[in-house]
Amino acid sequence: MPEEKVIIFDTTLRDGEQSPGAALSINEKLEIAQQLAKLGVDIIEAGFPVSSPAQFEATRLIAEQVKGPTIAGLARANTKDIEAAANALAAAKKRRIHTFIATSPIHMKNKLKKTPVEVLKMAVEAVRFAKTFTNDVEFSPEDACRSEMPFLIEILTAVVEAGATTLNIPDTVGYILPYEYGQIIAKLKSDVRGIEKCIISTHCHNDLGMAVANSLAGVRNGARQVECAVNGLGERAGNAALEEVVMAIHTRANFLGARTGINTKEIYRTSQMVSRLTGFVVQPNKAIVGANAFAHESGVHVDGMLKDRTTYEIMTPETIGLGGSRMVLGRHTGRHGFIDRCKHLGFTLSKEETETTYQKFLEIADKKKEVFDEDIAAIINDEIHVVEHLYELEHLRVIIDTGTAPTAEVSIKSKGKSKSASAEGDGPVDAVYEAIRKATGHSPQLESYAIRAVTGGKEALGEATVKIIEKDCTYLGRGVSTDIIEASAKAYVDAINRMMSKKKDKGQGKRIADSV
Ligand code: KIV
Ligand code: ZN
Repeated sequence: MPEEKVIIFDTTLRDGEQSPGAALSINEKLEIAQQLAKLGVDIIEAGFPVSSPAQFEATRLIAEQVKGPTIAGLARANTKDIEAAANALAAAKKRRIHTFIATSPIHMKNKLKKTPVEVLKMAVEAVRFAKTFTNDVEFSPEDACRSEMPFLIEILTAVVEAGATTLNIPDTVGYILPYEYGQIIAKLKSDVRGIEKCIISTHCHNDLGMAVANSLAGVRNGARQVECAVNGLGERAGNAALEEVVMAIHTRANFLGARTGINTKEIYRTSQMVSRLTGFVVQPNKAIVGANAFAHESGVHVDGMLKDRTTYEIMTPETIGLGGSRMVLGRHTGRHGFIDRCKHLGFTLSKEETETTYQKFLEIADKKKEVFDEDIAAIINDEIHVVEHLYELEHLRVIIDTGTAPTAEVSIKSKGKSKSASAEGDGPVDAVYEAIRKATGHSPQLESYAIRAVTGGKEALGEATVKIIEKDCTYLGRGVSTDIIEASAKAYVDAINRMMSKKKDKGQGKRIADSV
């Protein structure tokens, strides 16, 4: 099937921002809009200008500063709303007024308290008035999917005559199922007079989890614009998720006979930005942009992925701007996955070494949800490269007093003798490390330092991991304690012990040292 362009109309900043708790500042909206332009969306619905001064200002700024996409503003079918939208959009190079009025019996009778004849008149007048500001006018019959088909056809025919250029068919309450939605679009496409001059658009809410499926059913039946929001933000259960719609079209272009102009490599970055600025965390198993969307843990899956990634991936993580797939090492990981990760980290192990470390890995994987690269390096260091403990942390005291630099005192035992030293630092860990350097007489450069909780609760164990460098060799050290400063000190001493051990035993140490 030849692929036709589907316009991506992003409503993250309008419908998305209507999500309870997702309020964005004007500057944050501008930042997102700039990123949406990089993503390559065709239209940004920047806001509902009449609804508040902040909405007006955000729309105005976006219209003035964001180049590339058409900027749209929402307006009810009345002159005040349309004027506000027109004023807010005035600076945009390409602008669209999106006007709407409800057409379902429930909304007309109970909310608007208007007859269908009155609603039709308001819709036509609104479109005509909007046309005096811009040629690009979109009309939405709100709650279209619970409207009566003959009335829907009548009102859409009338607004097309009045000059509407895009006809949007909202499933406002997320009620419809994909097959039905496809039928509605097909029926309107065939029965609304003049519709061939217009773009048919979808706007689906996710109350039954059907927003993306409904939007695609619309595309299959002739819709050439999809309204969607990043991370599926929107009223109640949200709108169709932009990233899912785009990647479905990208992955199944042949079946849908459609393509988009989206730069898919910007998808992940955009999702992260929207999540950070709205404070709406992306669920790990969220399609396309969730942390687990390209993660594999089970032995069978990892094995398949290592042989050919298309066994378990229908699209590559690189397409959405990620660095690569994530092979999660955990208790479901098989030998193949484990060996591959060791190789990837630079370790070449004999058969026996592999067996010993794999068994140790399984023990740890039973206790921890996820085993990280640092854990594997530490297992190999512990099991294969037995380190002589030249230095031992005997005593540690840290004094932190508001207004003065932290001070640390350490006592290090080596070959039966104790040596004490004290030092100040920018922070407590810095002070401890300086004191250890003085006590041991070694000053390797600290390359990285990380701390994380390995168990939960008040008595959580903290695990510190440090990497030190000396003469182009890297050494990893780990320390565990309920006190994170003590864990940090132990990790540093451990790394120095590994460095000394390697100096003593060059052959074995090099392999381990180079690989972390
Ligand atoms: O869901 C809806 O009906 C809307 C319209 C304003 C398009 O958001
Ligand atoms: Zn909506």
